[in-house]
Amino acid sequence: MTHLLSPLTLGAIELPNRVIMAPMTRSRADDAGVIGEITATYYTQRAGAGLMISEGIFPSAMGKGYVRTPGLATDAQAAAWRRVTDAVHAQGGKIYAQIMHTGRISDPSFLPGSATPIAPSAVQPKGASYTDEGMKPFVTPRALETAEIPGIIDEYAQATERAFAAGFDGVELHAASGYLPEQFLSSGTNRRTDRYGGSIENRLRFTLEALGAMAAVRGPGRVGIKIAPEMGFNDITDESPVATYTELVRAISPMGLSYLHVAVMDPTKDYHERLRPLFAGPYLAGAGFSQESAEALLARGGADAVVFGSSFISNPDLPERFRRRAPLAAPDRATFYTPGPKGYIDYPALGAV
Ligand SMILES: Cc1cc2nc3c(=O)[nH]c(=O)nc-3n(C[C@H](O)[C@H](O)[C@H](O)COP(=O)(O)O)c2cc1C
Repeated sequence: MTHLLSPLTLGAIELPNRVIMAPMTRSRADDAGVIGEITATYYTQRAGAGLMISEGIFPSAMGKGYVRTPGLATDAQAAAWRRVTDAVHAQGGKIYAQIMHTGRISDPSFLPGSATPIAPSAVQPKGASYTDEGMKPFVTPRALETAEIPGIIDEYAQATERAFAAGFDGVELHAASGYLPEQFLSSGTNRRTDRYGGSIENRLRFTLEALGAMAAVRGPGRVGIKIAPEMGFNDITDESPVATYTELVRAISPMGLSYLHVAVMDPTKDYHERLRPLFAGPYLAGAGFSQESAEALLARGGADAVVFGSSFISNPDLPERFRRRAPLAAPDRATFYTPGPKGYIDYPALGAV
């Protein structure tokens, strides 16, 4: 029977187990978006995961949305990731880069020349951005011109090229959490009247073009996508989310992607049951799982692998703990995004038995 510790073929790569580390922003890069040695240590400690999906990485300077997040927008940013991928591969691990363009969820202080964040439409998000000068209310973004969109799609392709040059095993398009692709997908943030807005077919276009551009770099078998329908994070709303995500999954199913990663934050929503049958490739389910609930999902064929977030922060050897049925350490939320090693690389692994 399939269980968390059985191997899995994911597109172009083989995984030793089905315990996947979720993409998690940890804000440990420098102000230039370059990661340091502690980030190599952090990922190496967690290399026993079947696959690690990196923290969100901005593909271009205009895609940065948070303090001390890393980039794949320049060769210097990409070169720093080589230390991570080499160290992870030396441990037998696998790592994908999550490409995260935050669109309107940003602040001019993060952007070149204090630029206004970009978005499908000039719809101001409720909420505030956490900056070094304190919380700043989100500004009204600038709506992209139709003629600018191919350039943004090309940024995804270029970041994908840099990710492979830096040694990543694959890339994941971040189409969740209210960032740029989800801003295009969702009717509340997409008021466009061109071919990128209006009908569901048009609202899907940006995400499909970004995926296509990423897949063109080294084949679709090394490209995954993350969605989180009805997560609501970052003030994202859609008038018909079931229809939107059903159509999206139908559209991407024939592409031969590495995987579809679906995070369902509200356990009363039945998106796994709805979407898994529509997707021909490997299906990764995420959010809120314990070892028991993950094993139960795999046993009933509800997913091919399960994605664990916060429990991987505090349990670097999570698959081994599952194997031994060992207790899990609780994560310290106060150090999720703080600079330095505390709460980052100081969670111990279990001792040898
Ligand atoms: C500290 C932290 C940072 C996160 N950053 C990202 C991110 O960069 N990209 C992303 O897709 N999801 C991000 N998430 C969401 C996780 O990938 C995951 O969906 C979520 O934590 C639910 O899984 P869990 O219940 O196992 O923690 C983050 C979560 C946490 C706890």
